[in-house]
Amino acid sequence: MPPIELDERASEAALAIQATIPKPPKVAVVLGSGLGALANRLADRTIVPYAKIPHFPRPTVEGHEGNLVSGTVAGAPLLVFQGRFHYYEGYGLDEVTFPIRVMKRLGVRTLILTAATGGIDLSLPAGTIVCLKDHLNLIGSNPLRGPNDERVGKRFPDMTEVYSHRLRDLAFEEADKLGLNLASGVYACLPGPSYETPAEIRMLRILGADVVGMSTVPEAIVARHAGLDVLALALVTNAAAGVSGEIISHADVVEAGLKATPLIGALIEGVVQRLDAE
Ligand code: 6GU
Repeated sequence: MPPIELDERASEAALAIQATIPKPPKVAVVLGSGLGALANRLADRTIVPYAKIPHFPRPTVEGHEGNLVSGTVAGAPLLVFQGRFHYYEGYGLDEVTFPIRVMKRLGVRTLILTAATGGIDLSLPAGTIVCLKDHLNLIGSNPLRGPNDERVGKRFPDMTEVYSHRLRDLAFEEADKLGLNLASGVYACLPGPSYETPAEIRMLRILGADVVGMSTVPEAIVARHAGLDVLALALVTNAAAGVSGEIISHADVVEAGLKATPLIGALIEGVVQRLDAE
């Protein structure tokens, strides 16, 4: 899609949201598989269903609800994107990253991405929360492909520090306070929807990946292009193929997400409060 048209769509979506949420929070969270319940932790909620937002795609996968929820966590404002759009559903990367373009126009400065992932590194069993330090974009394309909108960001944006060092430090400090053993790792993004084979997982391990998933990276790239600070928290919902010998089912992924929701929720809450106090 030409960037001007994309910009117009994002602006229209942002305007429609502002009719219901006049002063959007400066911090936004995108919730991954099985983590949608995190939106229920918000107080003073205002809900805008994605279906009511012009140009917003609609989620198709079980375990992904489509709502934009504005509210507060312990007094700190937070905008929650409950449900995301995946490349494997058939959406283009323009659509996958549309919410990021919209939140930029809403005035969001900090983005917290969450995702369900498979654990590649043996030291990352199911239930581990991994703070991303870097990624491998193996999705086969780039969301910034096509003409560049100079008003949003540079043609060739630097990706040396996609995941803000400052935000990572903050997340580790908050994890410490909670007695939570937060890990750090590299996320490999594949297009899906099939999970990987054991040979592909061995390849990804050699390439330096610690966890594997089908989201997060396109959103992080678009967010950095637009100058947002990004923090990404990946929940290991299962061992990747060949790591434990167990097969992988989407139902197990969603269940593991639900189980870890309170823990990730507490961590996000801590981070959001610290950002609000800054
Ligand atoms: Cl093992 N692979 C991918 N690509 N995504 C996942 C996963 C595995 N487990 C949860 N999400």
